[in-house]
Parts: sequence; C-alpha cells; structure tokens
Amino acid sequence: MIKVQQIPKSKIESVDFDNLVFGKTFTDHMFICHYKDSKWQKPEIKPYQPLTLDPSASVLHYGQAVFEGMKAFKDHEEKIWLFRPDENFRRINRSAHRLQIPDFPEKYFFQGIKQLVKIDQAWIKQGEGNSLYIRPFVFASQPTVQASASDEYIFMIICAPVTTYYSGGDINVLIAEEYSRAANGGVGFAKAAGNYAAQFYPTSEALKKGFQQIIWTDANNHEYLEEAGTMNIFFKINDSLITAPTNDRILDGVTRKSIIEIAKSNGINVEERPIKVSEIIEAHENGSLQEIFGTGTAVVVLPINSFSYRAKSYKISITNSLAITLKKQLVGIQYNQLEDSFDWTVVID
Ligand SMILES: Cc1ncc(COP(=O)(O)O)c(C=O)c1O
Repeated sequence: MIKVQQIPKSKIESVDFDNLVFGKTFTDHMFICHYKDSKWQKPEIKPYQPLTLDPSASVLHYGQAVFEGMKAFKDHEEKIWLFRPDENFRRINRSAHRLQIPDFPEKYFFQGIKQLVKIDQAWIKQGEGNSLYIRPFVFASQPTVQASASDEYIFMIICAPVTTYYSGGDINVLIAEEYSRAANGGVGFAKAAGNYAAQFYPTSEALKKGFQQIIWTDANNHEYLEEAGTMNIFFKINDSLITAPTNDRILDGVTRKSIIEIAKSNGINVEERPIKVSEIIEAHENGSLQEIFGTGTAVVVLPINSFSYRAKSYKISITNSLAITLKKQLVGIQYNQLEDSFDWTVVID
C-alpha cells in the first residue's frame, strides 16, 4: 500500500459537474514519486497541490518530460473500470526510454493509479460521456542548466473529471502542407511534452481559419497522411477501413488498436498501410470515400465532416456511420455494458 495523506476537506462540492471544461478541474489527491540516488523512492498520495521547483529544474529548459492519458469509468453498479492500463504503462516507459528517463516500476504505476482513483472515486460520475481522465507524467527535476539528461525526476499522477470532449458542431480538418509534427528517427511515437508544444502554433493558425484540427503528413513531401493533433486517423473507402501503420513518427494509440480489433471482429476489412493524400482526394472524387474519423482517449471516436487540402475543401456526407457503430461498441465495453470478450477492462476493487 502507498502512504496516503488525506485532504482535510474535499473540494468536490464546489465543482459544477454539468459544465466541466476538459482538463481544468482536478480531484482532491495526487500521486508523487521522486527519482534520486539512481532509484525511484517510495511514492506517496497527497492532497492535490502546487509543486516547488528550482528555477533551474532541467525540464523547464530542455523539456525532458513524457506523459500518458487514460480513463476510468463508473458502471451502473458503481464499479470502477480502467481500460487497457497495461498499454499506457508500456507506452510511458517506451516514451521515457526515448527521452533518456529511467523506467518507472510497474508495481508503483498500477498501485498508484488504483489507490488514487479509489480515494477520489466520488469524482467519477455515472453515465455515458462521464469519466475520470488520468494523467500520469514524468519530468526532469534536477536543478541544472546543463544540457544533458537529468539525474533527478518526478513521476506524478493527477486526475480530472471529464465529459464529452467536443461539444458538437462539424469537424473540419486541414491537411498539413507546411509544418510537420514528426520526422524519421525523431520522437513522434513518444508522448513527449515537446511534440505537443510544437503543434500549438500551426494548430492555432488553423483554428483561425476555421479548422478544428490539423492532419499531419510526412515531413519529407507532405504526401502521406499520418495522424491528427491527439488522434490517430481512419479512412473508410469502399467499405474498408484504412489507417497509417505505426512507426517512429506516429503514436501507437490505444483507441486505434482497439477500434482495429473491434472492426475486425465485425468482419470489416482493416488495412494498416501508408495512405496518400492523393488517394483520399481521388476516392472523394469517385465517390468511394465514405468516412474519415479520429480516435483517441479524450475524444474516443470523432467523425470528421470535411478536409481541406491546397485551399480546396472536400465535404464528406456520412450515411450509416461506421465510426458511430464502432464507438458504441467500444464505449459499451468501457462502461461494462457490453461483454468484454477482448479482456481489456480492469476493475478497481
Ligand atoms: C499524437 C497522438 N496521437 C494519437 C493519440 C491517441 O492515442 P490513445 O488512443 O492512446 O489516446 C494521442 C492521444 O493520446 C496523441 O497524443
């Protein structure tokens, strides 16, 4: 058991659960574990509170930090479920490894999440769309401006009650032609903090032009479709689902791999292969492009209504949305409403 310091009085009563803004409200407690003297020290669960960092803390200068995003769900009997947490555990250590951050112990990761979620379980509301967003993260805390890997780190987990990510309205995306998100041999596959910082400027320029997201393309020729801001991306062409294969530029999304498995179990042909911008334009022109959708923990599955490339906009009229059918099955498993024949969910008891 991890040592717990309980908050004297919960702040839950001050929270308006009907008007949550994604990622802005946090629960009463947080998990924290320090790495020093070449090892992870004993973790603790404490009241959620600000940190004190030395101004020279390495992360503030060199961005040596990685994170994860996962969710807990409350079912009709008030049981709490995690969805494929082993995938997030493996991924944070893959990300950490690439950023020269020491691996985090499996035991602390799972004990930490389970104990923290249990203590703050009142913050998880029942009902579809409601969940607890869990944010594990680790950063370099050594006080030094030396440009080398830190020898001190802090691993933390914080939790935010959330509802549906996008509040409706059409989703229009811009296919990237100028900026790039990731390059061969880089850190695109890792959830490295800097990957996201580098997207903010191009994304805000796209927002000003009326797009909700950018679909990133390969950095060489902007020829191949890769992924969106915090989503992997699927195309339905001639009743087949196509998505880019994961590689060192693309995040290996948990939702992506779950949707692939659910689609296959429904008898749908799924192709994981490079997909060119020219292919979807041609498919749009000959009428075989049926759907585009994004997948990710925050949005689950997000249908895309139009894409724009070289100043031309292409609208997609969706009928019998496969995205919505697959989303219902995935969400049904997450909320323990449908049988989990894949063995993905983990109960917190
Ligand atoms: C760059 C990127 N791609 C894809 C995803 C989707 O991954 P997952 O389904 O594991 O949330 C995310 C979000 O975590 C992301 O940040």
